[in-house]
Amino acid sequence: MAHAIAVEKGSGDFPAKLTGQVFLCCIVAAFGGFMFGYDIGISGGVTSMDDFLKKFFPTVYVKKHEAKEDNYCKYDNEYLQLFTSSLYLAAMVCSLIASKCCRRFGRKPTMQFASLFFLIGAVLNAAAMNLGMLIAGRICLGAGVGFGNQAVPLFISEIAPPKYRGALNCSFQLLITFGILIANLINYGTSRMVGYGWRISLGGAAVPALILGFGSLLIHETPTSLIERGKKDEGLAALKKIRGLENVEREYDEIVRATEMANKIKHPFRNLMKRSSRPQLVCGTLLALFQQFTGMNVIMFYAPVLFQTVGFGANASLLSAVITGCVNAVSTVVTILFADSFGRRFLLVEGAIQMLAGQCVAGGILAVHLQSTNAIPEKYAHILVIVVCVFVAGFAWSWGPLGWLIPSEIFPLETRTAGFFFAVSTNMICTFIIAQAFLTMMCHMKSATFFFFAVWIVVMMCFTIFFLPETKGIPIDEMNERAWKKHWYWKKYCIEEDEQKKSGDQADEDRSVISQ
Ligand code: BGC
Repeated sequence: MAHAIAVEKGSGDFPAKLTGQVFLCCIVAAFGGFMFGYDIGISGGVTSMDDFLKKFFPTVYVKKHEAKEDNYCKYDNEYLQLFTSSLYLAAMVCSLIASKCCRRFGRKPTMQFASLFFLIGAVLNAAAMNLGMLIAGRICLGAGVGFGNQAVPLFISEIAPPKYRGALNCSFQLLITFGILIANLINYGTSRMVGYGWRISLGGAAVPALILGFGSLLIHETPTSLIERGKKDEGLAALKKIRGLENVEREYDEIVRATEMANKIKHPFRNLMKRSSRPQLVCGTLLALFQQFTGMNVIMFYAPVLFQTVGFGANASLLSAVITGCVNAVSTVVTILFADSFGRRFLLVEGAIQMLAGQCVAGGILAVHLQSTNAIPEKYAHILVIVVCVFVAGFAWSWGPLGWLIPSEIFPLETRTAGFFFAVSTNMICTFIIAQAFLTMMCHMKSATFFFFAVWIVVMMCFTIFFLPETKGIPIDEMNERAWKKHWYWKKYCIEEDEQKKSGDQADEDRSVISQ
């Protein structure tokens, strides 16, 4: 996710090298993204494995093998959905705790907490003897995601030299997609290990957790976090080391200024509720919501289950998930290369058109060719895989990375962290809703489920065209002047705010004239 808290005012021209320290810090931290991706990708494959279903969800196992069972309802089981979704609910709750932990103890300890939670979660899952252990493990992994997703993007954006910040942020999203892909590949391999394959898949999350845990012992706390917590000398020393330079005074002064300003805002959440913050709040929150209502995570979580539903064998289903994982990772590279030249709005609309076509064609194929108990003709099953790939590519070069990037760049400094927290938690709660509801929706709405997401895609496309200002190339501290005040709809909120400020200043002046 490219959801970094963006650059502070004026920081774009500081001298800074891409030192070995920076590189190491970013690679280690990005493993937080990899772990997030691994968790997204692993659950779908595992929930389609017979051994796993037999042990924890025997009724689903029986239904799956009942010839008469309705294709669309084979997997409809709220506990099975809870296995996938519980992680995101825990992540949402924990991201609030993590945002406080980040501020009070620093980014590095928050990442270390994340790796600890991940490790406990992976061990609990790999050793699970019953559903309770399994769900407890998922909740620990969710806590890891909550802590990791709050700390890692912040850490990367604070440690990276300004001119490499954008690319390093996008790499974080790229590592999420790598995590998903590796998880798909591991599922493909472990599905052949009868009896215990799922344990290896779930326990595999321990590897990136250990890398993050041990790696974090080698890296520095960010200068911003040290200065924010009053450790100014340590902050200056860390900045010199990270930048590989002695003359870091200007950047240091800028960090001190920004942290002092941010510390003055005692109630960022209250500030965010003001009418003048409405444009950013509405756009940031809706983008996070829309990102999930594209239906992307239906594919990420349930692709193997979905492919089995249409009649693929177990291996073919897992292989198809590997293919969609590859498409996801490769297409994300496209955004890294083109997000700043094509612009956000173009990519969002183009991606939406592609996803709309994908959802409609997939829904159409299922409506015509998949009844309750048949298998889809092979030709159409293959077309379905292609259509899913078109959909995934559309998401990966638009709403995927931009659904995180835009909320991170549109808020002014005084509401930035609070506003970003809103976007993160909206994303997590919507991920939870989709993960929890999809299999039930498939059972009741059948192929219409895909048209449900298609309607959402039309809504988000219209929203982008009419309500989202272009933010490409605009420094974040000039966003108000150059994006919001120029927008046909949102400008009235900014103008009202300016008028209120002016009349406030005028009243102050009048009062001082009278008192003289
Ligand atoms: C989304 C995840 C999604 C992933 C897929 C991220 O941007 O937030 O929910 O699973 O992209 O690559």
